[in-house]
Amino acid sequence: MFAPTTYCSRRRSLIEQERPDSGLVLLLGNRRSPQNYTANPHPFCQDSTFLYYFGLDRPDLYGLIDLDAGTCTLYGQDASLDDAIWSGEQPALEDEAAAVGIDAVAPPSVLASRLSKAQEQDRRIHTLPPYRDEHRLRFMELLGLSRGQLKDAASAALVRAVVRQRSVKSSDEVAEIETALEHTAQIHAFARRHAAPGVRERELVGGMTNYLTAEGRSFSFTPTCSVRGEVLHNHSYPNVLEEGALLLVDAGATSPRRYAGDITRVTPVGGAFRPRQQAVYEAVLAAQTAAIDALAPGVPFIEIHTHAAQVLTEHLIEQGLMRGNAEEAVAAGAHALFFPHGLGHMMGLDVHDMESLGEDAVGYAEGQTRPEQFGLHTLRLARPLQAGFVVTVEPGCYFIPPLIERWREENRHEQFINYDQVEDFLGFGGIRIEDDVVITEEGARVLGPHIPKAPDEVAAQAGSARAE
Ligand code: GLY
Ligand code: MN
Repeated sequence: MFAPTTYCSRRRSLIEQERPDSGLVLLLGNRRSPQNYTANPHPFCQDSTFLYYFGLDRPDLYGLIDLDAGTCTLYGQDASLDDAIWSGEQPALEDEAAAVGIDAVAPPSVLASRLSKAQEQDRRIHTLPPYRDEHRLRFMELLGLSRGQLKDAASAALVRAVVRQRSVKSSDEVAEIETALEHTAQIHAFARRHAAPGVRERELVGGMTNYLTAEGRSFSFTPTCSVRGEVLHNHSYPNVLEEGALLLVDAGATSPRRYAGDITRVTPVGGAFRPRQQAVYEAVLAAQTAAIDALAPGVPFIEIHTHAAQVLTEHLIEQGLMRGNAEEAVAAGAHALFFPHGLGHMMGLDVHDMESLGEDAVGYAEGQTRPEQFGLHTLRLARPLQAGFVVTVEPGCYFIPPLIERWREENRHEQFINYDQVEDFLGFGGIRIEDDVVITEEGARVLGPHIPKAPDEVAAQAGSARAE
């Protein structure tokens, strides 16, 4: 965890600057989540907003902030003798609380009565949207809500306050993300250097997992490691790498304080891009470079997305996959056959930062509506950028058989798409190039160590572990 002053000043800032109205803020820490029976849980993952304000990475805690009195209380239980026998001794909760600047600790049994007293006094209890069923059950129990009432129970004012605060990263948070990226660079190096014909995708995932486990780290999300890179979130690893295939790895590590890294790279198996692979790779790289160069405070991210789409489209027109005017093609949404997702998202404690609070609440400014056009509809971040935001920039170009088939049947955007040429690319896979970037007062800075992406550098290292 950070120093206690970090958590004190985050809570103070919520109470004094962001101030979502008056009343109480109730934050649920997560519980363990069983896999197939209670005693066999998934690895514990703390709720990120609880972690942000209360810093403690252990299950079964509640944080309560009294906005009017300016006080903070941690509710939880000391470990029992049984816990000590099965899981080892734990520090006293009071000591853990002191480490995050809290001196008021109480058992969960008194939380319900404190909340019902507040309700009797007509005080507002602000909560965040539940994203687990057990959160819903706890809110129903603690606040006496029915399932129907739960739907609108989250506090829009609290969501806005938390988003304002968590969106702007401190220098300590940026340093954490850079630590995550040091490890992320290592797992990408492993995959790139072992990407040789005959190697199985799951061996690469095994090698990356081995590195992270040995370092006491974990993946920040389920990685994609696949020669079927056209499947955007491909979480299966059944294939054997063949000469001439493109291996797409989208993977990130966590930092000690659980901040995320999120990087995508593509490696030519066998060590050389085929000419048309190189052309598409360079198109995606040009789109990514143009997007990163255009990042600056005040610029709406949706404009950066459109700029990247236009650069990609110009290249695809040159390569004969598209035709016509790039600007008109992008305005019509024709490029989304190749680039059907948004350019990027916020990143921080969550890889898609704060997504549990609602994509629009995080990525769209008040009054900015989410586009409905196919492709743009999945743009998670559209709002004007601010110094301190950490965002991903991840354009891609994919040849997705069912999408190509559907659009061709419908003759969709046929004035902009050369379907005969596109069909010749079936089996190509997909290319995405992703970096994590902090917005600065002057523009933007790509975070973390150098992770090769120039085509020559990537190709030169592809499968190089075999020669050692
Ligand atoms: N790295 C996974 C994603 O951005 O969706
Ligand atoms: Mn990403």
